[in-house]
Parts: sequence; C-alpha cells; structure tokens
Amino acid sequence: MKFLTLPSGDEMPALGLGTWQAAKGEVARAVTTALDIGYRHIDCAHVYGNESEIGEALAATDVPREELWVTSKLWNNSQMPEDVRPALENSLKALGLDYLDLYLIHWPVQLKNSVMYPEAGSDLIPWTTGHMLETWSELEKCVEDRLVRNIGLSNFSTKKIAAIIENCTVHPAVSQVEVHPYLQQRQMCEFCAEHGMAVTGFAPLGSKHRPAHQIKDGEPSLLDHKIILSIAKKHSTTAGKILLAWAVQRGTSVIPKSTNPTRLEQNLEAADKILDTEDMDLINSLDSGYRFLDGSHWVKEGSPYTLENIWDGE
Ligand code: A2P
Repeated sequence: MKFLTLPSGDEMPALGLGTWQAAKGEVARAVTTALDIGYRHIDCAHVYGNESEIGEALAATDVPREELWVTSKLWNNSQMPEDVRPALENSLKALGLDYLDLYLIHWPVQLKNSVMYPEAGSDLIPWTTGHMLETWSELEKCVEDRLVRNIGLSNFSTKKIAAIIENCTVHPAVSQVEVHPYLQQRQMCEFCAEHGMAVTGFAPLGSKHRPAHQIKDGEPSLLDHKIILSIAKKHSTTAGKILLAWAVQRGTSVIPKSTNPTRLEQNLEAADKILDTEDMDLINSLDSGYRFLDGSHWVKEGSPYTLENIWDGE
C-alpha cells in the first residue's frame, strides 16, 4: 500500500474504504471484513448516519489504533464556531475513538443548526469567507487539544482553500473532492502538490449507488466505458480495479465504497496494480469535467447558493 505524506508528517494510506450509502446492518460487517483483509483507512462522516455502527466494528478489531486511519466530516449544520467541537466530539463518541486522523469541513455550504437536509432555500445560510475562517480556527483548536491530528476540506475550490492557507495556523492537510477519469481535477491536484496537501478522490467508480434523485438522465457510466473495459481486458482484470489503480498511480488517495466482500478485496488489490504509460495516457484522455455529484441539491429557490458560487467556476 502506498502512503501519502501530509503537512503534519502523518502518512495516510492511499486506498481507503468509503462508507457513504453503506447501509446500517451492512456497514459493520463491511468494515470488519475490510480490516481483516488489510484496509487501514476508513472514510466516514456524521451525515452518513452510520458512524456508531462503524464504531462497533472498530471496537471489535484487534488492529492497533495507531495503524488505523479514520476520517470524518463536519456536517453543514455545525459550522458555527460553538458547534464545531461538539460535532467532532459526537463523531468521536459514535466511532468509539479518542481522536480522528482527519476531520474535513464537508461542504462550503452552511445550513441552519436545526436542519440536516434543506427543504427550502431559507434553510441555508449564505457563505462568507469570514465564517469559513472562524470554523477553521475552531478546528485548529481541536488539533491543539488532540481531538484530531489533521484537518482539511471536502468539496472546496482551490480559491476557497487558498483563503484558508493565507490565514491559517494549522495548514490544511487534505482536499477531498470527486475524482475519476471524467473529472480528473488537474487544477486541484496541482494546487495541492504546490501546497504539500493530499487529494482524496470520492466517487472513483462513478457513485452508482447514490440516491435516485441525484442521478441525471443519460449520465455516462465509468465502469462500462470502452477504453476502461479494454484496459481491464488487457490486464485480465475488472474495470473497477483499473479505475482505482489509475487513481493511486497518479498520486491521489481514493475511497471506493463497497459492502461486498469480493469487491472489497478487488478494490484493495487495485492499490498495488501497475498500469503502463499507454494505459495511463488513454485514461488521462477521458477528462471531460463531468461531475456525478454537482451540488445542485444546495441550489433551490431562495437559497444563497448557486453552482457558480459553490465551485467558483472550477
Ligand atoms: P457494492 O457496495 O455492492 O460493492 P463509488 O465508490 O464511486 O461511490 O462507487 C460505489 C458503488 O460501486 C457501490 O454501488 C458499490 O457497490 C460499487 N462497487 C464497489 N466496488 C466495485 C467494483 N470493484 N466494481 C464495480 N462496482 C463496485
């Protein structure tokens, strides 16, 4: 397994287990299987609603804590300074841990504290750089107090991350964004390399399992793309493995979700699969800027959010 070195000096395993949409009743078994076969990086979030079940699996494993990498994320309704530490403590309690390896601000979107998902535009609070810096400053205190070892961002543009870097005491460690051959995030990858940060890619397989209302008509499939299938055939392996091998080989970390034992194993093996230059070039040619998760659920009548102000045109 490759590791990515973060500004703190900590090393994050390049391939981890994604747990979004890993259903209650399935996720503990999936995490236990993953740990048994060698996964050491588990990606969680409060909003996934399954942290306490993941905590059961973490409590039962004999993998030493210092060999595990556990990430969680601050939900959008807990970004006010007074809500940050309680939210982190909540995730720690659910996961049964004393500290997290990484805690990310989940979205550059703020919800009223009482709202989990917005039903109306008025459930959303406008975004300001000032408020983001206050949230970050609270996260820095949590690092100081050893509740978390590294902090970072998810779904943030390089422009928003740059504003944090200019004002921070604790440097952001990771930018977690959607990354796959159709959305290669070259600007983000270059920005993070320049600033010593790691990029973690979510939805590396095209996130087919997400809720139906988030799936657009005529959406392209990654796992069925003819180039991916032909490279898989050449290596006598699966399309999924090729997509993950590409991600790790280009220097990003990647967090495929699976609750299926066979696919969990295949996905882990992909971290050590080597693709040749011709394979990498062919996959690199597929970049089309296509987002499977474009944030349009934050854009509603009366909402202060637009796709432009979420992504800053990136
Ligand atoms: P399952 O949990 O049944 O394995 P992403 O990580 O891009 O969000 O994609 C996760 C989805 O892809 C889940 O539906 C998961 O289903 C499925 N999946 C996970 N690993 C593979 C694989 N190697 N090949 C095909 N589908 C996969």
